[in-house]
Amino acid sequence: MTLRRLLPDPGTSALDELYAGLTLDDPAPGRGVHVALCMVASADGAVAVDGLSSGLGGEADLRALSRLRGANDVSLVGAGTVRDEGYVPLTGGADRQADRRARGLRHAPRLAVVTASGRLAPDLEVFSDPAEPPIVLTSRGADRDALAAIDDRAEGHVVADTDLDAATIVTALAELGLPRVLCEGGPRLNQVMLAGGRIDEVFLTVAPTLVGGPVPRIIGGAIEVVTQLTLVSAYEHEGDLLLRYRCR
Ligand SMILES: NC(=O)c1ccc[n+]([C@@H]2O[C@H](COP(=O)([O-])OP(=O)(O)OC[C@H]3O[C@@H](n4cnc5c(N)ncnc54)[C@H](OP(=O)(O)O)[C@@H]3O)[C@@H](O)[C@H]2O)c1
Repeated sequence: MTLRRLLPDPGTSALDELYAGLTLDDPAPGRGVHVALCMVASADGAVAVDGLSSGLGGEADLRALSRLRGANDVSLVGAGTVRDEGYVPLTGGADRQADRRARGLRHAPRLAVVTASGRLAPDLEVFSDPAEPPIVLTSRGADRDALAAIDDRAEGHVVADTDLDAATIVTALAELGLPRVLCEGGPRLNQVMLAGGRIDEVFLTVAPTLVGGPVPRIIGGAIEVVTQLTLVSAYEHEGDLLLRYRCR
């Protein structure tokens, strides 16, 4: 099945061409980091099917995520997503590692997990590679025993009193020398980043699925934060729409 490019310059190509050579911007002056949000949603905006995003996107969505993880310094995720989605270390395959090295990037992106509670079970798969300890951004209110239990398998940073706001998160990542950030969700973390005006661009896959029900949308929260977007590119593959927007 071919990949259809709808915008810019309509045409067709092999799926492998999707976001080939993609780069993420350096941070704008004074911003510290550049944040690209990457999410898949159903046509009615749902974030998951049966609690998992894998019920939504197809092959092209996976390819897009892999390309984005080929271009970033760090993937940022909320603890809920790590628990629900069973995150694993983001080592990637040999081709992606070689491609990253050729661009002057570390062989794999770091993974940074945001948690106020600090409650990440030490046997989670995300802690399974001693060579790839995730960064844990957490709070002074976190469960000390829980943090102690992951002390030898994570790089912990206590950066806030309770919940982390967007400025605290991006400052921590900038200070760690990780300027190109791929925010991989979930909806509660996304809301914090949106409310803080810290989303610079959006990679959204719209899957040809309706979900209904009480499933959250890709950005949660009780407060509207209206943000205008400019559509930069659009592709279609097996009904999936792969959209790249810049935030104005
Ligand atoms: N469609 C997609 O592309 C996609 C992507 C990601 C996730 N998802 C789905 O989203 C659902 C999970 O949603 P969610 O909203 O619970 O995810 P989430 O934002 O990843 O997790 C929420 C948890 O993360 C921590 N957290 C997030 N922001 C924080 C902040 N600013 N400060 C401190 N802690 C923060 C807190 O953990 P503690 O409780 O430990 O303090 C909070 O309880 C799952 O069904 C998952 O499959 C879908």
